Amino acid sequence: MFSNEDKKKDVATPRICDVVWHDGEFIAWNDARVHVMSHVLHYGSSIFEGIRCYATKQGPAIFRLKEHMQRFLNSAKIYRMDHAHKLDELCEASVELVRRSGLEQCYIRPILFRSLDEARPAFGVNPFPNPLACYIGAWDWGKYLGDEAIEKGVDVCVSTWNRLTPNSMPAMAKSGANYMNSQLIKMEALLNGFAEGIALDDRGYVSEGSGENIFTVTNDTVLTPPLSSSILAGITRDSVIQICQELGITVKERSIQRAALYVADELFFSGTAAEITPIRSVDKITVGAGGRGPITEKIQKAFFEITKGERKAPGDWLTYVNAEKGAQPGNNGSEPATNVSVRNEPAEPVMKFQTAASVPD
Ligand SMILES: Cc1ncc(COP(=O)(O)O)c(C=O)c1O
Repeated sequence: MFSNEDKKKDVATPRICDVVWHDGEFIAWNDARVHVMSHVLHYGSSIFEGIRCYATKQGPAIFRLKEHMQRFLNSAKIYRMDHAHKLDELCEASVELVRRSGLEQCYIRPILFRSLDEARPAFGVNPFPNPLACYIGAWDWGKYLGDEAIEKGVDVCVSTWNRLTPNSMPAMAKSGANYMNSQLIKMEALLNGFAEGIALDDRGYVSEGSGENIFTVTNDTVLTPPLSSSILAGITRDSVIQICQELGITVKERSIQRAALYVADELFFSGTAAEITPIRSVDKITVGAGGRGPITEKIQKAFFEITKGERKAPGDWLTYVNAEKGAQPGNNGSEPATNVSVRNEPAEPVMKFQTAASVPD
């Protein structure tokens, strides 16, 4: 068993943006609170996103902002969350949030959830009577699977927990409730001494990690499970596929058997938090040479060059936060657009940082 100290371990969170976007307004971090009887706390009724903003020579740049916000809207649609937020509004709010934070790099977390109308409270499973609330927060986040993981790789296991079935909880919606399944996978892995767990789908084929998509490399061909294996359609996964195509590496979506993980030449995870993390062993079986393989390294190098703004991306992947104010997300700041609507702006814009003392390294 892990010690209590180990159980508390999380990704390093050195700084948190002191303002949070809430339904069109910027509010102080301390005011971003919910009632304990909110629907979301009892029935898991939230959808969210995770987006990285990278430090570049031209200042902070948000990675594939539009695609993330489109997935956010899709998740809301699946769960019949009838809100008024528009793609451009959410993108512009994120850009403005990063601008106000003063952070050079950060992780952006939009969330939409079923709240509580205290004047007319509703406590049943039926979500419709409960009002929706939308927030976007941001913080500086370290390497999700550890600082050394990007170079050396991680040791993982196949989980005894299966991924959600498509007709129970749709994995393609990024809903908070899905992450109860992810937590079972993650806790089991951590308590058994692994960095991460890989779930199989309900047919026994490889699905994904608790918070990452997975790729295998065998005979110079890169494979990844299809959406029908109950995976989240990862934006990083899509980026890897496009990078492979640019690099001339054969990449295919295929159902993957558990045993294929053990005999692959290389394995790696992809995800906003995990970025591209090599896997060096599965169930204590060494993968390939037991470290980062050459193809993984090539893809990883291209990915990090793109996120640093040092290599041309296959598409409009970076939204430069300090580009001409009002620049359209995704167009690298070259075209004018409408400004973010900011109501109830605090008298003095909050530019301080919150120290997450409760989150040990
Ligand atoms: C379950 C799960 N799968 C895959 C991913 C990777 O998706 P993305 O690359 O869009 O971050 C994530 C991360 O959000 C995830 O939580």
